[in-house]
Amino acid sequence: MVNAAIVGLGWWGRTILTLLHGNAKLRIVKAIDVNPESAAIAREHGVAFASELDAALGDPAVQAVILCTPHTLHTDQIVRAATAKKHVFCEKPLSLSRADVERAVAACNANRVALAVGHERRFEPPMLEIQRLATAGALGTLLQIEANFSQNLFLSLAPDNWRLSSTEAPAGPMTATGIHMLDLSVGLCGPAKRVLATVRRLGSNLANGDTLAILVDFKSGATALISAILATPFDGRFAVYGSKGWVEVRDKSHPQDPKGWTLLKCLEAGTVETVDYGTAFAVRDNLEAFADAAAGRAPYAVPQEQMIWNIAALEAIFKSAASGNIETVA
Ligand SMILES: NC(=O)c1ccc[n+]([C@@H]2O[C@H](COP(=O)([O-])OP(=O)(O)OC[C@H]3O[C@@H](n4cnc5c(N)ncnc54)[C@H](O)[C@@H]3O)[C@@H](O)[C@H]2O)c1
Repeated sequence: MVNAAIVGLGWWGRTILTLLHGNAKLRIVKAIDVNPESAAIAREHGVAFASELDAALGDPAVQAVILCTPHTLHTDQIVRAATAKKHVFCEKPLSLSRADVERAVAACNANRVALAVGHERRFEPPMLEIQRLATAGALGTLLQIEANFSQNLFLSLAPDNWRLSSTEAPAGPMTATGIHMLDLSVGLCGPAKRVLATVRRLGSNLANGDTLAILVDFKSGATALISAILATPFDGRFAVYGSKGWVEVRDKSHPQDPKGWTLLKCLEAGTVETVDYGTAFAVRDNLEAFADAAAGRAPYAVPQEQMIWNIAALEAIFKSAASGNIETVA
């Protein structure tokens, strides 16, 4: 059993706290939030509460931290936790620049603690099947990805909410949903070479933009077309085209309330097969994979080089959305 502190009891911190009730691998023993009103949530869950991260970092009963805080805080919180010898699960994006994610990874490695990231989409059963098919060569050479992760949950946020700020969340929907599609793409295609991103405000009053289109050009020669919209009802779609076949996953619901997926698969024979997947809890599975890594039972499924490639491409997307130009990935 790994004892962890959860840091940030907002939307996602509460989602994780609830999901981990009675978990056999990971137990939340402390909750940290700068907002004193969050103490009531911790109390409801029977978890000790403090307002400073140091209260977790100085507690020998805490072996790990789960960071569910605003994006600009992630890198420093990862480094502080690693330096205190705590294993780190950090929500996405790990950092906002290549230099920062390298600093976070280096701190975890220097202190021999596990680092995991909130990219639960990788743990969804149809995505695991796509990864298996790609690795086995059943899709042939990977040619192109078409991905979309859209939602309208942010339309009800107050205009000054940090999730709508251009410093915390550059390029409109990118750090909310686009980053998951970028992570899946990097997981399949490797490091990106150049990107072109456009963000517009078309269907809302979100000052930072609501409609994002990205073209990612990978070093392998493959490309990804990523769409993320904050002004349309939920949609989740991830398609991979290869020289021997293609696959497409359609999500039945948002990851906060998983209801399953439909996988369309067309391999060499040319027949389209439909596979239905029921509810599965990828957010929990990702956290359990983190616990396994922290306990030394298994390496974490997302290699650190892919964490770095993802954030390097993210940084270039921020630049491209601001400049309107094709930007090289550092
Ligand atoms: N993996 C996913 O599918 C998913 C879904 C939603 C959000 N997220 C991620 O979760 C993180 C949190 O997002 P959210 O939507 O829950 O935001 P939120 O605003 O609802 O919650 C953030 C919480 O962090 C607290 N906080 C701020 N500064 C702090 C500090 N220095 N120390 C401790 N607590 C602090 C705030 O008081 C707040 O309670 C983000 O990284 C976001 O991208 C991931």
